This record gives sequence, C-alpha cells and structure tokens, in this order.
Amino acid sequence: MHFNHYLLEGHTYFIAALNERLSALRAQGRDIISLIMGDPIEPTYPPVRDAVVAALQATEISQYPKNRGDGFYLEAVANWALRYYGQTFDPAKEILSCNGTKEAIFHVPLLFDWSQGQEIWIPSLSYPVYEASARTLGIPVKYLPLSAETGFLPDLDSFSAEEWQRCQLFWINSPHNPTTALADRAYFEKLLALAERYDFLVCSDECYNELYYTEQRPASCLEIDSPRWLVFRSLSKRSHMTGYRMGALISRNHEVIRLLGKLREPIGVGTPTFIQQGAVTAWNDDQHPRDFAVGYRRKRDLISTALKAAGCEVFGAQAGFYLWFSHPHCSSSEALLQGFIEAGLLITPGTAFGSDGEGYARLTYCVTQEIAEEVARRAAQVKL
Ligand SMILES: Cc1ncc(COP(=O)(O)O)c(C=O)c1O
Repeated sequence: MHFNHYLLEGHTYFIAALNERLSALRAQGRDIISLIMGDPIEPTYPPVRDAVVAALQATEISQYPKNRGDGFYLEAVANWALRYYGQTFDPAKEILSCNGTKEAIFHVPLLFDWSQGQEIWIPSLSYPVYEASARTLGIPVKYLPLSAETGFLPDLDSFSAEEWQRCQLFWINSPHNPTTALADRAYFEKLLALAERYDFLVCSDECYNELYYTEQRPASCLEIDSPRWLVFRSLSKRSHMTGYRMGALISRNHEVIRLLGKLREPIGVGTPTFIQQGAVTAWNDDQHPRDFAVGYRRKRDLISTALKAAGCEVFGAQAGFYLWFSHPHCSSSEALLQGFIEAGLLITPGTAFGSDGEGYARLTYCVTQEIAEEVARRAAQVKL
C-alpha cells in the first residue's frame, strides 16, 4: 500500500500538539490557562437552544438531512444577507448550507481540475486547514508572504502576470486568523479584478466578520458584485455555535454553487434538520453578535493592556477574538511560548500558522470575564 505522502510526513494539527504539551504541564501539577482554541466558552445565543429542543421534540421520524440544506435554512441566510448587506441572493442557486465551514474549506479544491500545474494561493500565515487540504490532495501551493510591513495582508502588487496565471484558487480570510488584519473594500475589489483577469476563484473565509470593534463593519465580498468569489460564513463564532456545526456557502456564480452541491452529495449529508431549525433563529437576529462584541471588546482591552505592560507589541485587534503580538526580546515564538508558560498561560506560537509567524504568538480571549481578568493578571507578570 502507498499511503498519502502528506499524511506520512508526520504533521500534527497545532491544537493537538499544544494540547499534548498542556496535558504534560498539568501532569506536573502546573496551573495553566489554555488560550489556544478559538472556541467560545460562553453560552450560545439562547433562542437557538430553545428552538433546537422544540424542533427535536417535534421530530418523531428522523431522516437524512438534505445535503444542500433545507429551503427554510437557505431562505434564512438569504434574508440575513438582505437585511445586513442589502444584497439579494437566490437561495436555490446562490446559497448552500454546510456543517460548519471547516469541512467545506477542506473540500472546495475538489471543484477544480489541477492537472495543468495550477496552484492554490494561501497567505503564509493562515488557518491551517487551507494548507492541509491542498497538501493532502497533492495540489501545488503558493505561500504569499505576510509581515507587519504588509499589514499582514498579501501584497497583490508583488506578483508577476506569469505567477497570477497559475493561480486557480486564492484564500483570503478577513478578519484574519491569526493576525486580525482587515482587508478593506478596495483590497477585495483589486483582488476580484485580478481574479477576473487571470481566471481564478477568490475563496473568502469571513467567519469572524460580525465580531468587530471598529465604527464600520469589516468589508465583505458579499457587498461586491462579482461572480469571482465564494464566501464562507459560519455561525460558530458569530453566535457561539461551534458545537452545532452550521454555516453557509454563498456565491453569485451559479456554476460554482451547482458543482459544489454536486461535489458534496457523495461526501456526506447535510446538518440535521432540527439543528438547522435552531440555526435559523441565529441568522434571524443581528443584535446578539453586537452584544457578544461588547463583551469581547472589554476582554480585549483588559488583556492587551496587560500584554503591553509586559512590553509586548500588539497588532490590529479590531475584530475577532485573537491577540497577535511579539516582544522585542524574543526573536522566536518558542521563547514567547516559554515565557507565557512560566506565567501560567498557554498561547499559540506564531509558527503554528506558518514560518512567517516566527517571533509572534496568538492568544485567544473567547473566555469568560473572570478568566480574562486572571489572564490579564498573569500576562502583566510575564518576564521575557
Ligand atoms: C479562519 C477560520 N476559518 C474557518 C474556521 C472553521 O470554523 P467552523 O468550521 O466552526 O465554521 C475557523 C475556526 O477556528 C477559522 O479560524
């Protein structure tokens, strides 16, 4: 048997590797607060749970859920997009449901033929699933350098026409995990014009888009009229629903949506209908993400003030629930990690997201207010 090369290479998903480290530290009796997971530990928007319970109680016979999502769910997503962005989408041709966005992100390269040497373009610091999917499928990847100088966004002017011609799928994630960088509308427009010129698809992962602390909400492809984007939206962070597995794929490109629907048919089945029924109550309400953001902003202020008191430089932090930072005394992420472990905090080394993360680290603040206060106390004491 010849196993998949990428699986044999011995990569461990960073969460698994850090959790092993956490278990070892705790086994030594160390009191460590783990700040590595972007998985909110505060309650789900309550009407969701009530609606799921009621829907489940009314479900006497449980059958396979529809792969592309039930009509009522797709309509709720369309209504949200109309309310929130003033954009009309056809639920039958322009929206699909997904079991959270992670699996859909992994599968999307299967839409294309890669036999002519086409590439997937991925920012050099990224949510690891973009790379894992490309590498598992044996698709060439081009890593787009990110740095503080580029504002942690790929510099679109730095690539030649020959390079662009090889791009078939471009991953962009704004607000960005891990750096919190925000692409503005002009950036998206420029990228979409390049996609039109060089014939590629912009996969826009917008799962943190409704948790923001700026006056204006972050830009979204959904506001830009183009058949060149496929948007991934998720209820996981917006509505504290990571455990429910609900998201949506949206595109003006009917062929992309049709083929994605076809692709996903044999892969699995849709999210259970009673979960979709609960999820509708989340899509129907725009206020609770704003309320969640008020709490996150408070925690961000508390912890980033403490990080700065310890001498750290904190970048961005205008959206999402991550703090991306460095320290003038630490050229390596491992040194940062060690310093924080000494203070009783487990953070994610920037290198978990790509080699351009060396010297940086990510801390999540999707924790309770009480934990955030303790994190701030410990962070202020970090010696580097
Ligand atoms: C950038 C990014 N995209 C997608 C996901 C997947 O989220 P979900 O599958 O819960 O929708 C995450 C989760 O942390 C993420 O950080």
